[in-house]
Amino acid sequence: MTKHKRIGILTSGGDCAGLNAVIRAVVNAATIKGWEVYGIHNGTDGLTETPRSYEVLTVENFSDTPWPRLSGSYLGSLNKGVKMESLAEMSRRFGEGVKELGLDAVVVVGGDGSMNIVGNYCKGAGIKMMGIPKTIDNDTPITEFSVGFNSACQACTNAVDDLNWTARSHHRALICEVMGRDAGHLALQSALAGQADVCLVPEIPYKIDGVINKLKEVKASGRNHAVIVVSEGIKTESGEHLSNKKNLVGEAVYGGIGNYLNTEISNRYKEFQVRVTTLGHIQRSGNPSCFDRILAALFGAKAVELLAQDETNKMVVWKNGKIDAVDIEKVVKEGTTLLNVNSDYVKAAKALGMYIGEI
Ligand code: F6P
Repeated sequence: MTKHKRIGILTSGGDCAGLNAVIRAVVNAATIKGWEVYGIHNGTDGLTETPRSYEVLTVENFSDTPWPRLSGSYLGSLNKGVKMESLAEMSRRFGEGVKELGLDAVVVVGGDGSMNIVGNYCKGAGIKMMGIPKTIDNDTPITEFSVGFNSACQACTNAVDDLNWTARSHHRALICEVMGRDAGHLALQSALAGQADVCLVPEIPYKIDGVINKLKEVKASGRNHAVIVVSEGIKTESGEHLSNKKNLVGEAVYGGIGNYLNTEISNRYKEFQVRVTTLGHIQRSGNPSCFDRILAALFGAKAVELLAQDETNKMVVWKNGKIDAVDIEKVVKEGTTLLNVNSDYVKAAKALGMYIGEI
């Protein structure tokens, strides 16, 4: 029988749709087991800063409120843009916070970066941890889907669909710049769903002339408009990032590649006016999709079940249509999951006539 009586839950890294559905799932599943759940505010800050910042979460917090159906994080999150103390110091502070609150384990809802960082705090302080993957980038290893990705894809698809109609009115080629960091999952899947003509992803080199040839082909077919989806993480045609900016935890900070493409295409091809839409944080802020809510429920239930079995240092995953769990160390070792250029997504895009670069 489990020893856990009180667990903490925190959301870490960039927010996304579905975090509150995860929190609700963990609270419900844990409450049924007779455990207490402490919601930690603002990622790890609620435990590492003094005074500690948290609240006791009950089923009632979520049963008759809109929260589980809303985006954002009820608890607040933390995307560190400021220099952190040393790992040993953070781990010490985290451990003190956990001890002060009397937590038997912590559920961490985060991406690969958070699994690494908070996993290390927990390891250093000897604390039990269970990870639940979330990110609109869908680049957390081993799991095929992370919470938030599907909802972000829907937001991007809606934008591509909408851009199509204004592109048609004005005979334009409209560029839609989407997030995803160095992974092209969000760009390619929304380009497929939105039936874009071109999709550029960080994993595949491209030529501006390749994009222009596609626009010429569109024009020759009698269509006077086109939509181009571009991932924020692509390089210039000559292979450099526009900016080498990194935040202080070493993650790349992107944005603006759509404007570069606009200039390059417009200078060489005049048949379409080109304009750029940068979707930005709207991709993280819509309400969670059906799939993300289901994933949240399955992941939350599994995380609590594993803690009840006294498991620790694991992250729940969705693999081959099943929920499972893998060691955090394995997740960290795998690093970020990029788009597989031989995947069915890439094959389908090519087969359907989309220009996706030089492969
Ligand atoms: O990792 C999620 C993500 O939304 C990326 O797609 C994007 O590059 C980044 O976070 C934006 O971060 P911020 O919210 O700090 O601007």
